[in-house]
Amino acid sequence: MSKFPKDFLWGAATSAYQVEGGIYQGGKVPSSMDPSSKEHANKEITDFSVASDHYNHWKEDVALMAEMGFKSYRFSISWPRIIKDKEGNINQEGIDFYNNLLDELIKNNIEPVVTIFHFDIPMFVEEDGGLESKNVYKHYERYCSVLFKNFGSKVKYWLTVNELNVMVLISQIINTNKEKYSSNEWQVMHNMNVVQAKAILMCREMCPKSKIGPAPNIAINYPASSKPEDFTAKLNMDLLRNWVYLDILCRGTYSKKFLSYLEQNNKQIHTTSEEMELFKIAKPDFIAINYYSSGTVEALDNKDGNDGATNADQQSGFAFKGFAKSVKNPNLEKTQFGWEIDPVGFRNTLREVWERYQLPIMVTENGIGARDVLTEDGKVHDDYRIDFYQKHIHQMALAIEDGVEMIGYMPWSAIDLVSTHEGISKRYGFVYVNRDEFDLKDMKRIRKDSFYWYKELISKNGEL
Ligand code: BG6
Repeated sequence: MSKFPKDFLWGAATSAYQVEGGIYQGGKVPSSMDPSSKEHANKEITDFSVASDHYNHWKEDVALMAEMGFKSYRFSISWPRIIKDKEGNINQEGIDFYNNLLDELIKNNIEPVVTIFHFDIPMFVEEDGGLESKNVYKHYERYCSVLFKNFGSKVKYWLTVNELNVMVLISQIINTNKEKYSSNEWQVMHNMNVVQAKAILMCREMCPKSKIGPAPNIAINYPASSKPEDFTAKLNMDLLRNWVYLDILCRGTYSKKFLSYLEQNNKQIHTTSEEMELFKIAKPDFIAINYYSSGTVEALDNKDGNDGATNADQQSGFAFKGFAKSVKNPNLEKTQFGWEIDPVGFRNTLREVWERYQLPIMVTENGIGARDVLTEDGKVHDDYRIDFYQKHIHQMALAIEDGVEMIGYMPWSAIDLVSTHEGISKRYGFVYVNRDEFDLKDMKRIRKDSFYWYKELISKNGEL
């Protein structure tokens, strides 16, 4: 008997700017991810202008998902494909593109799980003060109302914002903020919490049959030693890395410890009583989490370190003065790109999220980035990916036995796409896309070994 519920949503995920390409097609307006909007510091990796060219291959891509037996597909809608300018004018071609995609998914019995915003900020929003300005409220609200009106009857699961915590903690690395130290990242966090609360309320009204929730990147932290101070550091890191983004939406408040962290570091945020009232009534229906690895931390006193500025990427290098700093975990193996692999940490994370919030959980990212090799006879033998998934899915089954209520599992990524900051060579997909960093080749879609393995796993509802 499978431990997974009968209607469990097996599938995979992508995001618009990393997979679609076609940035000058279909009336899309410039976004923060377009080459024109930023300096390409690292010329050794591709930009996002072509990506996996899903904009022109979407039908073929959905057919591959259907062949794998996907029950769900998590993708993001590109805000700059839908809204043209700061007056809120709508791009009908963008609406048509996503309507076609949604219809194709539904025709193939694949439940769409739609991220409203995944890192690609329209330039008209950037030019109006960006996410740090409260002007973002009106832009995001208008955008949501267009989505709910046009797609509400087709979408059962909405995700408000992808990885707000990653945007707050390492915006300079994933390019959601061009000036490393110029902005108050905690104000960005608060503003984006407000827009999420507004989106939840709007969704209830405009699409009463849909469900909506946030999608942070959650990594549970271990203390580096049994020193009591390291356990305090674990609590501190969990707070700033994980909980502060969920507590506000699920529990309605910012914790006293978080507010005192801001005060000690001169990082006050501007809130109003109307905004804080919103959090009391706008509760999500579920929590989506992206999990790649756990963290390990030790105490960091007031004198040392930066405030979160030493980060290498999403999974490592966090340091908060007087609070905690991340260190390596000697017990864990690493991926080719240095991310620690911790399947047991996945179960631990699921348990902690469930026990803290008691809301159903959907996994909207999990996976291994690797330099996959295409053999001469056109195969990709990604046994390391199969091993990674096998172990994580096993731990997810144990979490279900622990009592965690799970809705679905949509790992990263359905097909190869361009990494946030490490190019197309860091591949995640079940389907290989035949292109290199600069040679676009034929963009052929090639089934990896993991494609066949996942197909069988889905057909047996997770039991292999
Ligand atoms: C998450 C993001 O942080 O991790 C994705 O939501 C991203 O957009 C994924 O691609 C993997 O990270 P990376 O940096 O390897 O692309």
